Amino acid sequence: MEAKEAKVEVGTAVAEKNFIDVTDRRTGKSYAIPLIVGKDKAAIDAMELRQIKVSGDDFGLVLYDPAFKNTASTKSTITYIDGDQGILRYRGYPIEELAEKSNFLEVAWLILRGELPTKEQLQQFTDDVTHHTFVHENVRTFLDGFRYDAHAMGMMISTVAALSTFYYEEAKNIESPETRWHQIIRLVAKMPTLAAWCYRHHRGLPYVYPDNSLPYTKNFVNMLWKIGEDYKPSPVLARALDILFILHVDHEQNCSTSTMRVVGSSHADPYVSLAAAMAALFGPLHGGANEMVLRMLREIGDVKNIPGFIERVKRREALLMGFGHRVYKSYDPRAKIIKHTAYEVFEVTGRNPLLDIALELERIALEDDFFVSRKLYPNVDFYSGIIYQAMGFPVEMFPVLFAIPRTVGWLAQWEELLRDSEQKIARPRQLWMGEDERAYVPMKTRG
Ligand code: CMC
Repeated sequence: MEAKEAKVEVGTAVAEKNFIDVTDRRTGKSYAIPLIVGKDKAAIDAMELRQIKVSGDDFGLVLYDPAFKNTASTKSTITYIDGDQGILRYRGYPIEELAEKSNFLEVAWLILRGELPTKEQLQQFTDDVTHHTFVHENVRTFLDGFRYDAHAMGMMISTVAALSTFYYEEAKNIESPETRWHQIIRLVAKMPTLAAWCYRHHRGLPYVYPDNSLPYTKNFVNMLWKIGEDYKPSPVLARALDILFILHVDHEQNCSTSTMRVVGSSHADPYVSLAAAMAALFGPLHGGANEMVLRMLREIGDVKNIPGFIERVKRREALLMGFGHRVYKSYDPRAKIIKHTAYEVFEVTGRNPLLDIALELERIALEDDFFVSRKLYPNVDFYSGIIYQAMGFPVEMFPVLFAIPRTVGWLAQWEELLRDSEQKIARPRQLWMGEDERAYVPMKTRG
């Protein structure tokens, strides 16, 4: 509250009232700690705590924050979230408006460059992306080396990391904005090709090369599903994917984005940094959740089994996958848009029977005190998997479908990191709780 009233100078602590007083009861000393005032919250610089000591040789205070529940790791201008109000904006534009009026490549430019593109800028960007969709033929050889049943996300992560070996000399030059932009174009362009090829490998189907006469999402759909010459990508499905891509572009400092920043802070090249971010995304608590939602819905199998499943969740024997979020304590705005899009997709694909289970689960959970009191609402992953499945994707592709658009967000955050003079190599502290020094015990005398 204090900080809100003191919102005088954004970014600095110049006004006298933008300080907090901290008294150390151990020493009786008081410290005036300046606030760094953001537009949404205020912070203290953790290094300010180091002056708080009990003696000259004391290290000084550090912040203890496992899982970064209350630590701002950066100042950012890319994505704004108000978790209590369910607000998500990219560069100031509400996600609802972008999903309705924009398209993926326009949003990608917005996120990467900060402003909506002019007509010429969008044409040039689209042209640049379109002409980088092909991958080196050796990529086929890697993919062929994976077992027929390899998980698509495992293949994707490894293949993106392997791209570093093709562009290493150039890509390691992370100091140059022009070189960085070139790698960004390459990655945005090649992700759908790699993703489609991982899918085709999984299915034992021949790889389809990019068709650069098609727009981004249609080209992806074509590489996924084309069999024979007369395949025509469905405009409804391509548009639905485009909307899903827009919704997944960025989500500020989540687990995978923080990974991108941490790895990028060591000045690793963007390919391996991105592969690390993808690995973080793969976890079932993050972007792997949509796959887990589908598996959960299948396991429940019938609406009549929902009450029993809810009881298992309350007994902590299972998680209600696709529910809950570290930041959103209300309905995830992306989940609302996805739910709406699902009905448009079902007009083409037919209704996914799992939808009825999902709707009933949501209805019960939103009334049940266990979920209400913990502010657990559907998140982006709750309905996305149902759409993906109706479109014909196997569950293994779900995290891959998340990673394609999130590549844009990861790269924008990486770019922001490298332009930020306050950033250094990421290196947290620890609180030592282990043994004091002790002498080595020879094997024969160990207990
Ligand atoms: N089902 C049942 N209980 C839950 C769930 C859930 N999905 N999520 C949180 N809780 C409970 C949790 O047990 C805890 O209860 P208590 O206070 O009694 O111990 C309380 O709610 C607070 O949860 P938390 O674990 O402290 O919350 P967190 O911020 O650390 O975790 C989360 C956030 C997303 C990891 C978690 O809600 C979760 O595991 N959800 C299921 C997985 C999922 O859907 N992930 C996708 C997230 S959105 C997309 C993305 O990030 O990629």
